[in-house]
Amino acid sequence: MKRIAIFASGSGSNAEKIADYFANKADVEISLIVSNNPKAGVIDRARRLHIPVLLFDRTTFYDTKRITQLLLNQHIDLIVLAGFMWLMPSNLVRAFPNKIMNIHPALLPKFGGKGMYGHFVHEAVVAAGETESGITIHYVNERYDEGQIIFQAHVSIVPSDTPDDVAHKVQVLEHLHYPRIVEEVLMNDE
Ligand code: GRF
Repeated sequence: MKRIAIFASGSGSNAEKIADYFANKADVEISLIVSNNPKAGVIDRARRLHIPVLLFDRTTFYDTKRITQLLLNQHIDLIVLAGFMWLMPSNLVRAFPNKIMNIHPALLPKFGGKGMYGHFVHEAVVAAGETESGITIHYVNERYDEGQIIFQAHVSIVPSDTPDDVAHKVQVLEHLHYPRIVEEVLMNDE
């Protein structure tokens, strides 16, 4: 049995797609949904999906090793960030080398880095007059959006597209690809 922990701070639509994808696979379990935000939509989704939730505050995350220890104790094989807003602390990155992955809603290395999340990304893409955007799935290190790229998918932008239109197109790609790429990473790590 492989065990995944999903970290999410927001709505959790990707977390749910990943949970759905693995629901009928006997050899993979979403063991935990981890969040810094007690009001996040992902908490309601986790309850509905009967996935245990772990909530923590900033002090616990950055000033203790409690979260890392808990994930190690639970024998988590892969940490999947799905709209998680905080930088991973170094003790966590070191404890899970190449076992933390993230999805970014643009084509890195463009439109990444601190402050580049959610609608800010799509607004910047449209403002720059880009003709395409997409998703980047990458390993996570101690800097925002700089880990090794695992997979990218592209989508065209037409001049009439608003940032919301781009967000929608990108979300379609996220839901389509993220669960499958999570599975590939999980299975390649024998
Ligand atoms: C996604 O756009 C993802 O790329 C980004 O945060 C968003 C999360 O959306 N990192 P959701 O909470 O999964 O709906």
